Amino acid sequence: MQFDDEQDPTPSGELVLQTLALPKDTNSNGDVFGGWLMYQMDLAGAIAAREIAKGRVTTVSVGGMSFLRPVPVGGTVSCYCEILSVGRSSIKCCIEVWVKHYNRETQQKVTETEFVYVAIDDAGRTRPVSC
Ligand SMILES: CC(C)(COP(=O)(O)OP(=O)(O)OC[C@H]1O[C@@H](n2cnc3c(N)ncnc32)[C@H](O)[C@@H]1OP(=O)(O)O)[C@@H](O)C(=O)NCCC(=O)NCCS
Repeated sequence: MQFDDEQDPTPSGELVLQTLALPKDTNSNGDVFGGWLMYQMDLAGAIAAREIAKGRVTTVSVGGMSFLRPVPVGGTVSCYCEILSVGRSSIKCCIEVWVKHYNRETQQKVTETEFVYVAIDDAGRTRPVSC
C-alpha cells in the first residue's frame, strides 16, 4: 500500500489514546507487533464509543488493515478516532494510528481502519445508544 505524506499530512479525528512503544511490545526486528497496535486501536475506539453509548460497549467488527511503516521502540503512538455513524445500538468509527519518533518533530501515519461497537446491557444484550 502506498502512502503519501503530502496528501494526508495530519490525523483525522480526535486524539483519544497516546502511549509509548516499549521493548516488551516488539518483535525480533525491534518493531512493535501489529497485534499490539490493533489492541491500542480497539481500546481507543471503545473509549470513544462508550462516551456516546453512555455505558458498556463491545466490539462487533473490525475492518481490514495495512501497516504502512514500522513502529520502533520509543515511538509515541497516538490513536485518533472519528465517529462515522451512530445507529440504533451501533457506533462506527475510524481509528488512525500515528507514530512520532523521539528524535523527529512530526508524526507519521501507520495504519487506519473502521471499528464498529455495539451498546450492550449488563446481560450482554444490545441496547439503544440513547438509553
Ligand atoms: C455484539 C452483539 C451483542 C450483537 O448481537 P446481535 O444479535 O448481532 O445484534 P443485532 O443483530 O441486533 O445487531 C446490533 C447492531 O450491530 C450491528 N452489527 C451486527 N453485526 C455487525 C457487523 N458484523 N458489522 C457491523 N455492524 C454489525 C447491527 O447492524 C446493529 O446495528 P444498529 O442497532 O445500530 O442497527 C453480539 O454479536 C456479540 O456479543 N458479539 C461478541 C462481541 C465480543 O465479544 N466482542 C469482543 C471480541 S471477542
